[in-house]
Amino acid sequence: MSAAPESQRMEKIVSLCKRRGFIFQSSEIYGGLNGLWDYGPLGVELKRNLKNYWWRMMVHERDDVVGMDGAILMNRSVWKASGHEDTFTDPMIDCRSCRARLRGDQLVEKKGVKQCPVCGGKDLTEPRAFNLMFKTYVGATEDESSLTYLRPETAQAIFVQFKNILEIARKKLPFGIAQIGKAFRNEINPRNFTFRSREFEQMELEYFCRAEEGMKLLEYWKEERLKFYENIGIPRTRLHVLTVPDDERAFYSKGTYDIEYDFPFGRQELEGVAYRTDYDLVQHQKASGKPLEYFDEETKQKFIPHVVEPSAGVDRTVLALICEAYSEDRAPDEKGKMEARIVLRFHPRIAPIKCGVFPLLKNNNQLVSKAKSIVDFLRPHMFIFYDESGAIGRRYRRQDEIGTPFGITVDFETLSEKDAKLRNTVTLRERDSMKQERVPIEDLPGLLLSRIS
Ligand code: GAP
Repeated sequence: MSAAPESQRMEKIVSLCKRRGFIFQSSEIYGGLNGLWDYGPLGVELKRNLKNYWWRMMVHERDDVVGMDGAILMNRSVWKASGHEDTFTDPMIDCRSCRARLRGDQLVEKKGVKQCPVCGGKDLTEPRAFNLMFKTYVGATEDESSLTYLRPETAQAIFVQFKNILEIARKKLPFGIAQIGKAFRNEINPRNFTFRSREFEQMELEYFCRAEEGMKLLEYWKEERLKFYENIGIPRTRLHVLTVPDDERAFYSKGTYDIEYDFPFGRQELEGVAYRTDYDLVQHQKASGKPLEYFDEETKQKFIPHVVEPSAGVDRTVLALICEAYSEDRAPDEKGKMEARIVLRFHPRIAPIKCGVFPLLKNNNQLVSKAKSIVDFLRPHMFIFYDESGAIGRRYRRQDEIGTPFGITVDFETLSEKDAKLRNTVTLRERDSMKQERVPIEDLPGLLLSRIS
């Protein structure tokens, strides 16, 4: 890890994200729109690899979880029943001195007096409840009857489809429904790059169970989720589990953990793991009048299941992955002279590009065509990048900076007729150690796949 002060480190990360095409400001050519971001060619790959790995761990490699993909717009009654219409608010305060609009928890307190964090002013308005849901209208009329909201969490689609999925999936308790999708919150103060955005993605699991299993499963899911972060390259030592105190938990929750990460701007939440009891299903059963119960074949009893919910943010995890991977070290240039190197040490599993392929010289047809044949050979297995421009050392550096874990160089030995043993072998370079090994082309898919997944 670099020794740069944390604020400088964050600036460097933001600048790298733009320069190398991970993340751009949304609508940038029009001056942007606060709290909204676009993912570029590398960002979208990183995000997809993260979501695919979550889906693999949470759905494909389990017998007790199925997936769904719900609509972003839902009947307004959903948001009334869930409590979001009345209570999904943040306290908003204005500073009368500098006109900053602040969230209640952003005020600073000095000698017991609350102050504006921007100008230090003490002339502040009383807090007012500001609902974070974006309003919209469905259909051609814009009135109360057509009003609804962009969903502020993906979870509610799971609760309202619970009965349909229970019937078709024929699962016994405990079982879960997983979903990845967009959520929208009109945050009062979006900040810290993509950390607090107005449009973001969530990866949520609602794991339904019997009431008596709730607390045990809360512990189970906290541990599973910690393992997940370790598997994508965020070490346990950089993660913290906060037990959310009673007075800060949602009133219906019997226990909540926040999994936090040490970002350069401070320790902040990546994911919440909450035991939500039977609150949501009870609310929707009451409001819709439709039964949302589970029938226990053995005891012949009907009841509303409880639920444990691990709810992770895609964008926050992507940001944590980039922050964790960013590092500066020194590496030898073409002539062996040491120079500064920026390297993203992504776990190969989530790295946007898995392998670069380079012919040693771009003006040698045999080297180029051999390198291109290796690209064709590897492409069905992984995302490959072909690069023939510039000195080989430069090409390695460009891939180091975007976190590509492996580089393959096709050189004269690959073509050699002198040493039969080296024919059809290539140099395989590993990003972090910069170690090189000689590998037969035919062994590449197996070797690389074993190191990636
Ligand atoms: N269904 C439960 C739920 O939505 P939450 O703690 O409000 O719980 C879950 O959100 C996760 O969604 C957070 O831990 C965070 O990773 C992500 N998230 C929430 N608000 C966000 C925002 N404004 N920008 C980016 N990610 C956000």
